[in-house]
Amino acid sequence: MPKTLKTFPGNKLRGQTHLPGDKSISHRAIILAALGNGQSQIENLLVAGVTQPMLQALDQLGLDTNLEGTTLVVNAAGVEGLRIPNTPIFCGNSATTMRLLAGALAAVGLPAILDGSDGLRRRPMARIVDPLWEMGVPIRARGEGGTAPLDLAPRVTDRSLRGIKHHPPVASAQVKTCLLLAGLAADDTVTIHEPAPSRDHTERLFASLGLNIERLENPDGTVTVSLHPADEWELPPLQLALPGDISSAAFLIVAALTTPGSAITLRDVGLNPTRTGLLDALQAMDANLEVQPRGERHGEPVGDITARYSKLQGTEIADPLVVRMIDEMPIFALAAAHAQGQTLVRDAEELRHKESDRITALCAELQTLGVNIAETPDGFTIQGGTSLTGGTVQSHGDHRLAMTLAIAGLNAQSPVTVHEADIITESFPNFAATLRSLGASLAGKE
Ligand code: S3P
Repeated sequence: MPKTLKTFPGNKLRGQTHLPGDKSISHRAIILAALGNGQSQIENLLVAGVTQPMLQALDQLGLDTNLEGTTLVVNAAGVEGLRIPNTPIFCGNSATTMRLLAGALAAVGLPAILDGSDGLRRRPMARIVDPLWEMGVPIRARGEGGTAPLDLAPRVTDRSLRGIKHHPPVASAQVKTCLLLAGLAADDTVTIHEPAPSRDHTERLFASLGLNIERLENPDGTVTVSLHPADEWELPPLQLALPGDISSAAFLIVAALTTPGSAITLRDVGLNPTRTGLLDALQAMDANLEVQPRGERHGEPVGDITARYSKLQGTEIADPLVVRMIDEMPIFALAAAHAQGQTLVRDAEELRHKESDRITALCAELQTLGVNIAETPDGFTIQGGTSLTGGTVQSHGDHRLAMTLAIAGLNAQSPVTVHEADIITESFPNFAATLRSLGASLAGKE
């Protein structure tokens, strides 16, 4: 991926494509394969910047792995087969890696130091450290204000962790998954009461492994997830073929909806309802979208999505829809910029704690391209329907912002140049090639 990416207006998008494997399921599958007993095989794994540290961590834990293309084979021998990492585990920019590994290491009781990039060292970790501590995990955040590095001391492995009833103030699948992983070694039920439904891939995978897990959607919109741990836990190996990532599909969908003359089909995309908020939001904006379900694979719904150029209308987004499209807010903002009328996003303060402060950074860069967008404490408002000017913008070290800005160049008065665009390899390494294969015009410069 070139350092600078320039996208040109004027070409319509046509054809069909597949997406790289789902990022969230990839992380969970790698960890569960590592904790399992036997040979796991994961096909269509996301092989990208965000999963590299997780694979590296498996090496440090002494696991025998083999990655060929996007197929990962892990030979694991349960908890006994893992060794203490003799150097800190570097989680790169990936908060998912850090939070999920903390939960898994808590369950196996191995000491480790989890560290990451400067960006990751700024992300909030007290949200996992505090409840893990309450469960009896000897973990401390060494950074200022509850941030990384995280230090896990050895746990007396024949002593169980405690069960917990946790009420996180913000719905977070990473927090939930961290506690569920730690909960494998708990002596009592681990319950997470979420204010809104966050992605439920962990619950689905746990159920497919035969674990005793319940997920209850309550009448008030909250969700209660409970893991009833077994006395002795041993996980079977996994055999999975992962769906395409709907969060990557999102960029191509909005590209087609906002570029005149476009019609594209995305095959074999994950359609888990906790992840499809963007599709609902776009449909409410009169997007011409066709979703063709193709059944379930390993408990996850998959299907094809066709998106055609559409005259979009402004809309309003608030909880709980925000949680179902939390990673799609940057590209959603671009759709709103092309829509007639006003769009309002609220209840999305959590965007300030992602790879960048996604409210401030998004508003600044879209304003550079002539979008009438204004920041609010918990979201933004957009007066849409005016054409984008083109120009030169920055990724802020955020892969989803970089891809959004690149897509903006496909329908603007002049090209868009995105600096530090190589960050896109974090989640969608073949982004430029995929766009080009659908007819877009792009140029890269080192
Ligand atoms: C993820 C959960 C979300 C999401 C992230 C992946 C996961 O984060 O933004 O990209 O795989 O569980 P939070 O749990 O912080 O909301």
